[in-house]
Formats: sequence, structure tokens, C-alpha cells
Amino acid sequence: MAESSVVVAIDGPSGTGKSSTSKAVATRLSLGFLDTGAQYRAMTWWMLANGVDVNDPAAVAAVCDKPLIASGTDPKAPTITVDGADVSGPIRSSEVTAAVSAVSAVPEVRARITALQRAIAAEEPGGIVVEGRDIGTTVLPAADVKIFLTASPEARAARRSAELRVKAAAEVAATREALVKRDTADSTRSTSPLAKADDAVEVDTTELTLAQVVECVVTLVEERKRRE
Ligand code: DC
Repeated sequence: MAESSVVVAIDGPSGTGKSSTSKAVATRLSLGFLDTGAQYRAMTWWMLANGVDVNDPAAVAAVCDKPLIASGTDPKAPTITVDGADVSGPIRSSEVTAAVSAVSAVPEVRARITALQRAIAAEEPGGIVVEGRDIGTTVLPAADVKIFLTASPEARAARRSAELRVKAAAEVAATREALVKRDTADSTRSTSPLAKADDAVEVDTTELTLAQVVECVVTLVEERKRRE
């Protein structure tokens, strides 16, 4: 690890607090921040906008080099664009959320986005926090610190429901079902599935506040820096 540079990989399923934790850790430590899920969502948004059948892996593979996806890495104001247009709103739609697991399982999509992620990380001389599903295992296996966040399905569904402002019990139950379905798809795909790296530290966030999780990760990064 270079004197002033640190690469932190934060992986885990949906609703474990990856994004909030990663942004806060990056801000605290003056590092860049990369939300890799936003890139898969941007690719999926482009496929849907261009009428590509997202359930046809060959059709997705054939055109996945067309959209120009770019990510801004300021943790206080991260950006995501496709062909120069801001897509930060549309990539959070329920249509994109329902289709993103199928698109991100296509090996050609992963190869392209993994190369983009590695290039972005290499361009951050001061270091970066990268959050996703396969960062510690595949994208940046030499990351200085690897964290795997978990939480009970109930806690994850409650957090996701709060984000979506869903309150009715039936809607919370549907949110939980969709989340578990997406995590199962992401964990069982053949190309770089959601997985904990052998050398990752697992943090169960079920009973922790965001501030506590951030403190825990910052402490792990600082301990790692002291060992250098
Ligand atoms: O973090 P998110 O929910 O915005 O991610 C959206 C999807 O992108 C997720 O269901 C799986 C995929 N993804 C992935 O396959 N690999 C990553 N490193 C990040 C996200």
C-alpha cells in the first residue's frame, strides 16, 4: 500500500448499508467513492431505453460495448452518466431494478464494466472506496481492506422500504421478496457472483447504526495503514 493511498472494497447484498457506509468512509478519509451497482444499473437502463431484450444474454452481449458509462467519484456528489446524460434518477426505477440482475449476469457486460472499474480505481491516486458485489473477489482482489456487510433479510427489507417510502405491510413484504430474489440471482450467477472474499472482514449491520458501521470500517482502515 502506497504511503497515502488506500483501496477499500465493500461488498454485500442489497440493503446492508453499502452505499451510505462507503460514501461516509470515503468522505471521512478523503478518498474517492465508486458505486459499481450504479454502473450495472446504467447499462441496464440503456438496454431498456434501446429496446434490447434483457432476458436474451446474446442480445445484451452484442451491444454492451455501445453505451459510454462514466462515474464521478466525489463521495459528496457522485455522478453517473450514459453518453454524457445524467441517469442518476432513472437508474433507480423499478423497471431497472427488476432487470439489473439479468443484465449483470452476462459475462461480456461484466468484462466491460470490470475494466471500467479498474481504470477508475487506478486513476485515484489518493485511494478509493469501491462498493459492489465482487470487488474483493474479482475486481480489486489486491484491495488493502476488504469488508463484507451483511444484515438479516428483515432489516434489509425495512431499510429498502424506508428508502422507497413504502409503509403498508403488503408492500414491505413485496419489497423483501424482490430483494431476496435479486440477491439469490446475484449470488448464484456463474460469472463473479456476490461472494465474501476469504480475506474480507464480515460486519453484520443488523443491530448497528450507520455511524457505528462507519466507525468500524474507518478503524479497520486505520489499523491497516498503521501496519504499513
Ligand atoms: O447495489 P445495487 O443494488 O445498486 O446493484 C444493482 C445490481 O447490480 C445488483 O443487483 C447486482 C449488480 N451488481 C453486480 O453484479 N456487481 C457489482 N459489483 C455491483 C452490482
